[in-house]
Amino acid sequence: MFSVQSKFLLTGRINRNIGRRLVLPAMDKFVIRGGNPLLGTVRISGAKNAALPAMAAALLTDEAVILENIPQVRDIETTRKLLLAMGAEVELGYGRAQHRTTICCRQLSAPEASYELVKTMRASTLVLGPLLARCGRARVSLPVGCAIGARPIDLHIQCLEKLGAKISQEHGYVEASAKRLKGAEIVFDKITVTGTEDLLMASTLAEGETVLENCAREPEVADLASLLNKMGARVEGAGSSTIRILGVDKLRGAKHRIIPDRIEAATFIIAGALTDGDLNVSGCEPSHLAALFEKLHAVGVKIKTLSDSVRVEGSRELKAADMITEEYPGFPTDLQAQYMALATQAEGTSVITENIFENRFMHALELVRMGGNIRIEGRRAVVRGKTTMSGAAVLASDLRASASLVLAALVAEGETIIDRVYHIDRGYENIEEKLRGVGAQIRRLGEILPKRH
Ligand code: EPZ
Repeated sequence: MFSVQSKFLLTGRINRNIGRRLVLPAMDKFVIRGGNPLLGTVRISGAKNAALPAMAAALLTDEAVILENIPQVRDIETTRKLLLAMGAEVELGYGRAQHRTTICCRQLSAPEASYELVKTMRASTLVLGPLLARCGRARVSLPVGCAIGARPIDLHIQCLEKLGAKISQEHGYVEASAKRLKGAEIVFDKITVTGTEDLLMASTLAEGETVLENCAREPEVADLASLLNKMGARVEGAGSSTIRILGVDKLRGAKHRIIPDRIEAATFIIAGALTDGDLNVSGCEPSHLAALFEKLHAVGVKIKTLSDSVRVEGSRELKAADMITEEYPGFPTDLQAQYMALATQAEGTSVITENIFENRFMHALELVRMGGNIRIEGRRAVVRGKTTMSGAAVLASDLRASASLVLAALVAEGETIIDRVYHIDRGYENIEEKLRGVGAQIRRLGEILPKRH
């Protein structure tokens, strides 16, 4: 099944499952042999991008917040470390029956998010609003740029200042303080997902009413609002572009189940389409995937939806279709890389336009090395298909680019070795086990420890 080379390298997954935490070596690789259609059923995990703000929301109360359906991914572990460093108590368990975390922020000794942690996960800036609202101060490292773009937080800062926060930036940190935030009318200059979530959380404990306009409408924002209301907040309109929050004096603990990961579900749906498979993607929320279904219909993929699952039947005759990324409910930027892999197998020319991030085509270079015919023109990628993809040694550059390389490897002739799969471990739970469960030939190679002499 695998070449001699990869068998030699094959050391299996060094998955040091310490207690309840999963620790993955940083330099794992995937070896994938293409050609198998994906058949059967794959179960989707909880949404990373809903779990991260929900964990930050626990900072708003001194009572326990219990979150279920937490995905077992690297970014959750990073957030656990972030909360522990502030003095929170965090229980995180991935036993068979539960993927659950219990977070209690009774005493917050240090309302800070250090550079060491923020540099590994930009979403750490989600603690800024909650810390300001709960503790009256916050010291959060400015996020570092990442592979897909500059990722500034200027909008978060501007809008928190409109709530009365005093904010300065020095030595690479945001220093923020506010005796008590005061409700205000705020219009976001640009639609920002974590900006909406940060301000939503901050406003729950502000004095008076806050109206947020031009908000992000992603399902993860609505899920956060649902948790906040269970905690005693008074939020209306989340999921639309206008959100009203009536501030309260105190929030209580709550129990909440995180929504399914729509990007993981979509990634597997595209994998089923690409490999000419017959795949049942279960435990997802089809209503979150309308833009994807519309595009896959245009490409010639058959989709059947049930209440919490999607059946995708691949086709050998995929047709090219242009795609433009937009804020929700438009086609998600987090699916652009995966769609590009699909476009290499579609007959004709697909023009992909990336409207959200300024540098989100890193995967294109590696897809070309595997046989893709792709030309980048600024924010547009022109993909000419169908081309035969051949296995190669490739490098993952960011979370969704990694997923794109896995998809291409599933249809490539021969063997692909993907390096730096720690990127994919940030947002996909056990992707190799899930793919193997539906027929893919994929192995994880642990880091090769130098021989001791
Ligand atoms: C969230 O990032 C997601 N992350 C991203 O998913 C996703 O790609 C992105 O939204 C867009 O949908 C989480 O939810 C944890 P933005 P976020 O603020 O909030 C600019 C993944 O793969 N902007 O909506 O950081 C920004 O540069 C990740 O799971 C400012 O200019 O994205 C971008 O061009 C990747 N100033 C645009 O807005 C700001 O203060 C949208 O970014 C904030 C954002």
